[in-house]
Amino acid sequence: MKVNVAFILTASGYAAALPGMKEPEGHEWQRRASDSRSPCPGLNILANHGYLPRDGRNINKTILSRAATEAYGSPDGFNDKAVDIVLDGHLQTTGTNDSFHLGDLSLPASHNVCEFDGSLSRNDLAFGDAAHFDIGVWYKTGSRLGLYDLNYDHKHVFNSDNGTNPGPTAYVSVETAARAWSAHYAEDMAANKNFSVGVVNGSVGTTAFYLFTMWDDATQSAPKSWVRSFFEEERIPYTWGFPSPGAPKKAEHFLQLVDQVYAIGMGGQ
Ligand code: HEM
Repeated sequence: MKVNVAFILTASGYAAALPGMKEPEGHEWQRRASDSRSPCPGLNILANHGYLPRDGRNINKTILSRAATEAYGSPDGFNDKAVDIVLDGHLQTTGTNDSFHLGDLSLPASHNVCEFDGSLSRNDLAFGDAAHFDIGVWYKTGSRLGLYDLNYDHKHVFNSDNGTNPGPTAYVSVETAARAWSAHYAEDMAANKNFSVGVVNGSVGTTAFYLFTMWDDATQSAPKSWVRSFFEEERIPYTWGFPSPGAPKKAEHFLQLVDQVYAIGMGGQ
């Protein structure tokens, strides 16, 4: 049976947001075809909301740190090491030593330096376009995360702090994310003969990264509506209650998530 992915995405109730929730002024979501974008949803989002330059060009550590702190609550300088990978790999086409364009991250030279196989929402380079969101790849991940279950109530997502039990299906737990990651990586490894083992580390990190960034302290998990907004629209889920500015985050939490995702994911092999 052929699955109509677009129908399922819409029918699962995602389109309606929480009443009264707006995007912060000056940081409304916008995307133009001429903008430079990357294989990284986290960076594309910052540019889509104007925390990074909207054209996605000439990004340095200072600009990025300020943007990620304001939008996501990331610790100061949290992304510096990732920027070093780009700059040390001389992937930048800006003509400078300290800045890059988002599009530089999807150049062929980026493969296995910064961009890698096993992405949750993009194809492997060997199978086509590794830079852009791919609904077929993502649908498999999203299904494993339970994002398209038809029976959960999005409106209950934010009631956890007033004692209402929202039900486990409104969230992506660390365990679910870890199992989705390991299933995806095992499947991809079997399908792609060029699959690089380095991806195991990279993809643990990216799973931990979306959890960390879309984390809801009250429920100790990531609301499904936030995860969908992050990947499917490359948009901060303000209309789903994501706070502005982002709730402050600690680097130790990220490292803890990496350990947990790895331990659960590898245990499940
Ligand atoms: C600002 C906070 C960031 C967040 C929340 C974030 C999150 C993510 C996530 C969740 C993915 C996985 C996408 C997928 O598997 O489909 C990813 C991929 C990627 N990120 Fe980021 N990221 C951030 C910053 C950065 C920085 C600073 C760089 C480099 C300068 C970077 C470069 C990349 C690249 C090249 C990929 C593609 C890897 C692949 O092929 O799967 N990211 N990012």
